[in-house]
Amino acid sequence: MTKTSAKLRKTHSCGVLTSKNDGEEVVLMGWADTRRDHGGLIFVDLRDREGITQVVLNPEIDQIAHNAAQSIRNEFVIAVKGRVRKRPEGMANPKLKTGEIEVYTSDLEILNESKPLPISFDNREEISENNRLKYRFLDLRSADLQNNLKLRHKVCRVVRNYLDSNGFIDIETPVLTKSTPEGARDYLVPSRLNPGQFYALPQSPQLFKQLLMVSGFERYYQIVKCFRDEDLRADRQPEFTQIDMEMAFVNEKDVFSFVEGMISNIYKEIKGIELKLPFDTLPYREAMDRFGNDHPDARFGLELRDITDLAKQSDFKVFTTATDKKGLVKAINAKGCADFSRKELDDLTENAKVYGAKGMAWIKINKDGLQSPIIKFFSEELMDQIVNRLEGNEGDLLLFMADTPKIVADTLSYLRITIAKRLNLIDESKINFVWVTDFPLVEYDEEQKKYNAMHHPFTSPSDSDLEYFESDPAKIKAKAYDLVLNGTEIGGGSIRIHRKEIQDKMFKLLGISKKEAEKRFGFLLHALEHGAPPHGGIAFGLDRILMILIGAASIRDVIAFPKTQKATCLMTDAPSNVDEKQLKELKLKLNVIK
Ligand code: AMO
Ligand code: AMP
Repeated sequence: MTKTSAKLRKTHSCGVLTSKNDGEEVVLMGWADTRRDHGGLIFVDLRDREGITQVVLNPEIDQIAHNAAQSIRNEFVIAVKGRVRKRPEGMANPKLKTGEIEVYTSDLEILNESKPLPISFDNREEISENNRLKYRFLDLRSADLQNNLKLRHKVCRVVRNYLDSNGFIDIETPVLTKSTPEGARDYLVPSRLNPGQFYALPQSPQLFKQLLMVSGFERYYQIVKCFRDEDLRADRQPEFTQIDMEMAFVNEKDVFSFVEGMISNIYKEIKGIELKLPFDTLPYREAMDRFGNDHPDARFGLELRDITDLAKQSDFKVFTTATDKKGLVKAINAKGCADFSRKELDDLTENAKVYGAKGMAWIKINKDGLQSPIIKFFSEELMDQIVNRLEGNEGDLLLFMADTPKIVADTLSYLRITIAKRLNLIDESKINFVWVTDFPLVEYDEEQKKYNAMHHPFTSPSDSDLEYFESDPAKIKAKAYDLVLNGTEIGGGSIRIHRKEIQDKMFKLLGISKKEAEKRFGFLLHALEHGAPPHGGIAFGLDRILMILIGAASIRDVIAFPKTQKATCLMTDAPSNVDEKQLKELKLKLNVIK
């Protein structure tokens, strides 16, 4: 019965018909979402990307079409021609956009059949993610994923419109290129024409966009794939997309206001929300002190308090050993958590150990006084001062960490978020943007005994800190900034070094010799000598912005064909072995070291 030649032409989407179309003749094409055979009448819910229309096959209207409809199974691809009719009184389906109407079919073509699906896409939670990734082309039929990708498209359109109307030019940069120092491992591609040599896939278009400024384009943008071989997390993919931009003749304030315009357009167009501008700014040091990280979620309190000066005066060895070694003792007040059980405290401690904690001291403020294994090491007066500093009241639980500044920060920022989640302190309706500014230019790596760039080596130092290059590099602040949304870093950038002598100074500080700098970034150094304008920019993680806009738990939900945590694609089976012939052409021999 199946007809193969598509003689009909689609006139409408399945999600748009209303009672206004009553009486019109239409041709719909799509997938049979369900088929219900009611003896005489057959009902097919016909689905396309816009929605579902109920089509009715009545043997009295067309016996052939009705017969053909009996062979329709779920996900068959069909075309129907028919007349739109208002559904009879009381039969409207308010759950469907098209629920007021149905289409009485006079002609039916089965355009293609479908085997029974290996996975269902309408109850996704019940199907393992591995299976969904293997059959991604089916999972992508789900309304959720379709909506996510439509939203992605809309966000890109808003971004393009905004940047276009502000004079930004979209310029593509190479994908087969040379290593850029963004801090992750590179993906390498062997070169056939240059045996033994490799391209690196770009971790970002950083150097090219700077070169475009030297070339005089003044405002560049690109919505661009970046590749980083790093350990993956819920908000990291090996290939992800940046909204990347660069501007000449700007300072930090200019970049902020361009970006705020772009972000507020996204919220206005996508969510109908007017954001309050300008966004708050928070110096890096203050973010670390108050929240323990440089991407704070400032939608709730539970801030960290430093009690190192008081801890020093105690007899508690754990605290004094840490302070003797130039460590810190800091604490948070888990408001109203004095009723945490021993097991809950032990679990928190165990989890904090993942971040390097060696233990977690606690004090409960009970009705009848303080309760804690460590009170005995403190004088009453000292204890009062600690409780006061933490604004402790009856019913509160104080949690303490003593260790290196890094471990104290990491563990307390973990505890802060965990407790906020447990206490339901995070108001999900809040939208908290904050610019984190005044990053240090470099940080000292104790293991390698050298300074590393905190952002990347092309970031400009603050003009007033140039004098510290020789005397105290750790003191130099960078003209770098990150934009943080609800505790996630969604973008980062900087004003760049545009003068060669400062770039040389920076390389020297990072222990990159003149020879090495020439080899790795010679093209940039030469460009800086030929009329490089002052410039700066920023890049946003498009996938991360979408995750937040959608409220998705995983970055995979906003990417059409994502990779697993092990950077594999379960659908195509990438990465995979290659033919011996391909290796030969590349003049490569495999010797995999286990
Ligand atoms: P940065 O390395 O901070 O800066 O990257 C910018 C933004 O990209 C997103 N991002 C990621 N998203 C998903 N998966 C990943 N693996 C991943 N890595 C980064 C983040 C981040 O804020 N060239 C500079 C920008 C500049 O200086 O202009 C850069 O790439 O949201
Ligand atoms: P201990 O003397 O090792 O039994 O530790 C006493 C208390 O201090 C326990 O609650 C430990 O979890 C806690 N503790 C141990 N190490 C640390 C640390 N580095 N910072 C904060 N508390 C700790």
